[in-house]
Amino acid sequence: MDDLKQVTHIDNVRLSDDGQAVVILDQTQLPGSTEYLTLRTPEELYEAIFQLRVRGAPAIGIFAGYALYVLALQEKAADGKALCAALEEKKDYLYASRPTAVNLGWALNRMMSVARANEDKSVGEILEILKAECLAIHQEDIAMCRAISEYGLTLLKDGDGILTHCNAGPLATSRYGTALGPILLGKERGVNFHVFADETRPLLQGARLTSYELQRAGVDVTLICDNMASIVMKNGWVQACLVGCDRVAANGDAANKIGTSGVAILAKHYGIPFYVLGPTSTVDMNCKTGADIRIELRDPEEIKEKFYEKPMALPEVKCYNPAFDVTDHELITAIITEKGICRPPFTQSLAALFKKKD
Ligand code: MRU
Repeated sequence: MDDLKQVTHIDNVRLSDDGQAVVILDQTQLPGSTEYLTLRTPEELYEAIFQLRVRGAPAIGIFAGYALYVLALQEKAADGKALCAALEEKKDYLYASRPTAVNLGWALNRMMSVARANEDKSVGEILEILKAECLAIHQEDIAMCRAISEYGLTLLKDGDGILTHCNAGPLATSRYGTALGPILLGKERGVNFHVFADETRPLLQGARLTSYELQRAGVDVTLICDNMASIVMKNGWVQACLVGCDRVAANGDAANKIGTSGVAILAKHYGIPFYVLGPTSTVDMNCKTGADIRIELRDPEEIKEKFYEKPMALPEVKCYNPAFDVTDHELITAIITEKGICRPPFTQSLAALFKKKD
């Protein structure tokens, strides 16, 4: 396999060979080491999401589908109804692991609704149906990422400088990724970009994951600290910003990794288009605006100690550590989904997507 294909075909989430567990590439160990984990118990599956061993909204959704199937295999239910009741509890448990990415609840609910729709069938039949559903979630994500990449590529020119924040590449999704999709698809077709990857404090997804993926794929990438975004824009080195999303509200407000909204504000100042890329499974029409999106707050230790050899602040210092922020829809040039490119006013263009036949 060539270098690019090794990146776009990275084996980040799958069922184990015996079909009884979920295997993930532990993203917390990258780029230093490539370690696979085989997860079976509810606690292991929960911990993998909570600790960001598996992360990125679409990858969390794919993982959640497999996780619920693996937990269903372990139930000793007498019939379909009992299986569904037991699974409902497991679903709620996994759902509590991280609140912001809509794909987690979306995938869990999708698995539960096929189980419920078939609860009069035998346990064996329901397990087969659940297996088919989680595999379908994964296959659909591959197709969605490809379509998003195709649409995104139409917005860019050979030689463009692109700034991205956090990681929305193959590790966070399947195959090409969302925000990194047009870049990797472009590379495949001989269209080259220069990418600035924000390091993404405090968890360094940009440094650890995005620059790793792009460097390995042979893309021209430069890693910058988050607070350097404005200088590269001012220097005229950025022609477009491409970012992923964790939950998009019906009005186009988009939650993504903390710091994204700051990048959008800078992009507006410098007249640079700001594109949000994500599948329609990340659009939550039940959230009217970004104010309805729950933002995950994480441990202060991530700011003060993680990735440092010794603590970089006094233990008693207060920290505020939101994992995401919401970019106001007015700062977004377009939202690129697998069903097409939405432009403002997003309330209309997003609603139209959901009316569109596949
Ligand atoms: O906390 P993380 O690393 O899961 O946050 C990930 C992001 O914010 C990504 O940009 C988003 O999930 C899109 S992934 C295609």
